[in-house]
Amino acid sequence: MTCQFRCGNACAHEPGNDSGNTYFGDVVAQAMSRRGVLRAGALGALVAGTGVAGAVGAAPALADPAGPEEAALRGGGRSNLRFTPVPPNTDDALRVPGGYTSSVVVRWGDPVLPDAPEFDFDKQSAEAQAKQFGYNCDYVTLFPMGRDRGLLWVNHEYTTEALMFRGYQGGGTATEEQIKIAMAAHGGSVVEVERVKGTGEWKLVTSGRRRYNRRITVHTPMRFTGPAAGSDLLKTAADPSGTKPVGMLNNCAGGTTPWGTVLTAEENFDQYFVNGDKVPEAQRPYIARYTIPSGTSSSSRRFDRVEERFDLAKHPNEVNRFGWIVEIDPFDPDSTPVKRTALGRFKHEAATTTVAPDGRLVVYMGDDSRFEYVYKFVSKDRYRPGNDRHNRRLLDEGTLYAARFTGDSPAAELDGSGKLPSDGAFDGSGTWIPLVSGDRSYVEGMTAAEVLVYTRAAADRAGRSTADKIGPTKMDRPEDVERNPVTGAVYIALTNNSNRTAAQVDEANPRASNKHGHVLELVERRGDPTELTFAWSLPLVCGDPKDASTYFAGFDKSKVSPISCPDNLAFDRDGNLWISTDGNALGGNDGLFAMPVRGGERGYLRQFLSVPVGAETCGPMVTQDQRSVFVAVQHPGEVDGASPDSPASRWPDGGQPRPAVAVVWHAEGRKIGS
Ligand code: FEO
Ligand code: CA
Ligand code: CA
Ligand code: CA
Repeated sequence: MTCQFRCGNACAHEPGNDSGNTYFGDVVAQAMSRRGVLRAGALGALVAGTGVAGAVGAAPALADPAGPEEAALRGGGRSNLRFTPVPPNTDDALRVPGGYTSSVVVRWGDPVLPDAPEFDFDKQSAEAQAKQFGYNCDYVTLFPMGRDRGLLWVNHEYTTEALMFRGYQGGGTATEEQIKIAMAAHGGSVVEVERVKGTGEWKLVTSGRRRYNRRITVHTPMRFTGPAAGSDLLKTAADPSGTKPVGMLNNCAGGTTPWGTVLTAEENFDQYFVNGDKVPEAQRPYIARYTIPSGTSSSSRRFDRVEERFDLAKHPNEVNRFGWIVEIDPFDPDSTPVKRTALGRFKHEAATTTVAPDGRLVVYMGDDSRFEYVYKFVSKDRYRPGNDRHNRRLLDEGTLYAARFTGDSPAAELDGSGKLPSDGAFDGSGTWIPLVSGDRSYVEGMTAAEVLVYTRAAADRAGRSTADKIGPTKMDRPEDVERNPVTGAVYIALTNNSNRTAAQVDEANPRASNKHGHVLELVERRGDPTELTFAWSLPLVCGDPKDASTYFAGFDKSKVSPISCPDNLAFDRDGNLWISTDGNALGGNDGLFAMPVRGGERGYLRQFLSVPVGAETCGPMVTQDQRSVFVAVQHPGEVDGASPDSPASRWPDGGQPRPAVAVVWHAEGRKIGS
């Protein structure tokens, strides 16, 4: 069921990437000025996790000729993580370690706008849904307003209609109202939250003006900026200017900017469109790279039945208006969200910003499909603390790169089994290959606008202009990318790729039929995120620790938790890596795990929580004071055959399952995990 609703059964189709690209490859965010008081402290004082900690300024130089593995092992003994791990389980509950408590902050259907009606499962309407918390929450970040108040931003990635509506048989036979409810349940929410005094618990503010509360949906007016804005590829009948897209789709993970806005990532946007085979001939190869469905399948959502723009036979460019990084200002409920074309168009998973030592802004991004690439964007101009107007243009002008990972062990030592090569590590070096810089394309045969709108195809061809003709590396589903605020090293979750064959393994993707995924650590030269070369290694190769193909940075495997399918990453302020999982292929529920990446406990991975039946764990976000961790419990009860009349989960309220954001804290106020 997850496969059908989340990504339109992407795994059942051929991967989009059939390019010849090689498989073997061989400031603490200055307190916000403009809305100063509001945000002061904001980003500096409280938030860590996936968000603003990523925007920390110059990190200590870590790049080391010895490579990241050795460098990271130096210094530090035990970590400060002390919790007793949650054992693998299949309970229909949110399980946390002893001493910790959890509560639901906000769930599907909870009123967001002050005039929203209370949720009624059997009487849901599109009008109500557009004012209530959306479905399948994913990225979560908190913008503090002082110590005990804040704005929570949450993505609503997709809808699971089979659990939302009784008797649902697919978009072909759904009522128009059901389709409109689904549209309104996508997008994102801003909700005001408050701390329960003296604890790590946060609650939804349910009374008063709640002036920041906002819903973004498929119908929110947006605008394009950057080099591709206004290009012919983005023009439609409804918008001949090519600058005014409407709505966002499948927003998965995200990031924040140093100036206090959200970057939210449109991921599997393809599945909302029909008749991908009926676009003009010239567009077809590019469309194919995004696996847009052909014809009209009655099991798909069929948004085209209520809005013609989703029918590509009639509006072929509409699909080009999705698949972007969208910037949203949570502090201005009247602001127009901005699709930043300079960051390229692919199945964006996340966008993590960091300010380089010279002040340029860098954004790391993954493209989550099998055999896709890792990207980064480096701004042309420099971040100027306090100058929002200037800073917001940083995301419109700069250079977009794709990553190439080269191993340092002989190909003969990589047999696809996961056995470590004789040098004891999956590791090597890499380069960032430029694709486009402003109006200048580095890709043969493609204009700058084409590179930005058809970024996957551009990355496929990028090798044509490198000295050795080798392009970026096809990865095992690059999901979240996060930068360690303590060391500056960058971590990439590679969630899985059961389609990789033994002939296709490389040192950065060393397992054939990679069911459980791995985590890659990337250390930019001199620790400077604007540099174009790096060292990398795999500190974590996931699975059951009893499985010889797993690796936990050399730590004693008898002590670690099993882990499968790393998806979202976050760091706490002490530099511990937090990993949430999606699609546990070991039989247990998904969860949240913590792992030190430095010192003697590097690789000592433990499960911190598990989510209910059928759910994946998203978010996660450890607050800057480390007293709370937020997680999004996405698609509880999403199990084949489940329905409202036969639910597989009754989380969180004992009735129908409802995707929700939860918060976890320690009863005695300890730092999370310590
Ligand atoms: Fe929406 Fe790639 O997870
Ligand atoms: Ca090696
Ligand atoms: Ca994800
Ligand atoms: Ca996911």
